[in-house]
Amino acid sequence: MTIKFSTKADPIKPTVVALFEKDQADKALHGKTLHDFINTSIKHKTFNQEASKVCSTHRVEKTRIQKILLTGFGKEKDWSEKNARDMAAGIIKAAKGMEASDIHIILPHQSLGELQALTEGLILGNYDPALHKTGKDQEKKDKNKIKTITLITNRWGKDHKAMVEKGQHIAMMVNYTRNLVNAPPNMLDIDAFVAEAKSIAKENKYTFTDIDKKKLEKMKMGGILAVNQGSTHPAHMLILEHKGADEDPIVLIGKGIIFDSGGVNLKPSGSMHEMHLDMAGAATVLGIFQLLKKLNIKRHVIGITPVTDNAIDAKSYRPSEVITTYSGKTVEIKNTDAEGRMILCDALHYASTDLKPQYIIDMATLTGACMVALGYRNAGLFGNNEELIKKIEQSAKNTDEPLCHLPITDVDEKAMKGKVADLANLSNTHNYAGSSRAAAFLKNFVNDSKWAHIDLAGPAFTKDPKPYEVSMGSGYGVRLIIDFLENL
Ligand code: BES
Ligand code: MN
Ligand code: ZN
Repeated sequence: MTIKFSTKADPIKPTVVALFEKDQADKALHGKTLHDFINTSIKHKTFNQEASKVCSTHRVEKTRIQKILLTGFGKEKDWSEKNARDMAAGIIKAAKGMEASDIHIILPHQSLGELQALTEGLILGNYDPALHKTGKDQEKKDKNKIKTITLITNRWGKDHKAMVEKGQHIAMMVNYTRNLVNAPPNMLDIDAFVAEAKSIAKENKYTFTDIDKKKLEKMKMGGILAVNQGSTHPAHMLILEHKGADEDPIVLIGKGIIFDSGGVNLKPSGSMHEMHLDMAGAATVLGIFQLLKKLNIKRHVIGITPVTDNAIDAKSYRPSEVITTYSGKTVEIKNTDAEGRMILCDALHYASTDLKPQYIIDMATLTGACMVALGYRNAGLFGNNEELIKKIEQSAKNTDEPLCHLPITDVDEKAMKGKVADLANLSNTHNYAGSSRAAAFLKNFVNDSKWAHIDLAGPAFTKDPKPYEVSMGSGYGVRLIIDFLENL
């Protein structure tokens, strides 16, 4: 989708007109024909300027007006970046029904941030996860495809255009992340994921390190190797580095389970087919790395993605095994479905001991318990550093990617001690507070690094979609972390 800029309407083109409540059309901006039509519609109350109301499509007799969609933005004093993003998605969805590939949108004045958010909403709202249709279904989709959007407003300065461009970059890479999360595990297997990371590194000239299975064995990364035992594809720990500043690195770690069958503790079949989502953390890290260079982010950022399947096989790791992790700490396996923490523990220890990090932030679809607690909109946020938590909470507010700070208590930490080994991968008391207990387990591997853990099991694969989402991979976390890095 290309975005163009203009300061004048063209009533022959399929056009969306957006106005705040109580505003009237403007002759200079809307042109005479459209101006009269809009103001008549307002007068006769066929144009309702309340927020999110998409009012009418018309072919107006005796004028050049072809297809017009009138939409309200509500009260100007309530307008915000969030509203701009949300309502832009509404516009694009309504515009799809116009069967037009080239759409004009006439906007009331927007601030720079609102312009960025609005652009994000248009591109995110246009996302379609059905990438594998053929024949008639595909043809129908092609017919409704919007190829060009012309944004029309009073004035286009350099700054305004730059913000639209920025919103475009960000949204395209959120959509990229959604595609990775939504990809079927046969189409995006371990090897394909490695190739994807490698190509991002090459394109953006990032340093790329692939710790493949042989190297994992040499380094004694026992956690990820245990989880990988049942898989037909060997595991990888991938490392991307963007050296945008001379400083200690901010390390981003993403859980990359290509498919989580549960392993020997096999998951029930009801929703197992969704478990290709379990690499959403790693996909988010790749989405962020797609943007660091494009947005010229002057920070030193290292991304780590441990990648494997959690498969069931005669060679799979079993409950009751004791695994020696990269840290040297031993872990009793009480449930092979608690595999995320077993691959993250090696990545966290690597980050905290080999990299001298400024901060570590890991992102993982780690626990169903986090969804039980918070649902699909909020991620769980855990950590050991108040200042880092505050910064992430601020970015969550800025980007409307919400999260809730949850505790790691002494009781949680005690519950993760092993009977015969240092730790257990499942609580030794009961199964409540599952997301705090998982976080308490991870805490053993960060040493004294400033660390935050984002459990995005709910929002990364949503069933409560926002206006600019569909019920599937959301790309949650990309906008959040980009905002965090920009405001650091
Ligand atoms: N990948 C799952 C968590 C998950 C569940 C993410 C549903 C998204 C949707 C994780 O590996 C897992 O299986 N966690 C277990 C942990 C338990 C065995 C301690 C869970 O949540 O049940
Ligand atoms: Mn699991
Ligand atoms: Zn998992």
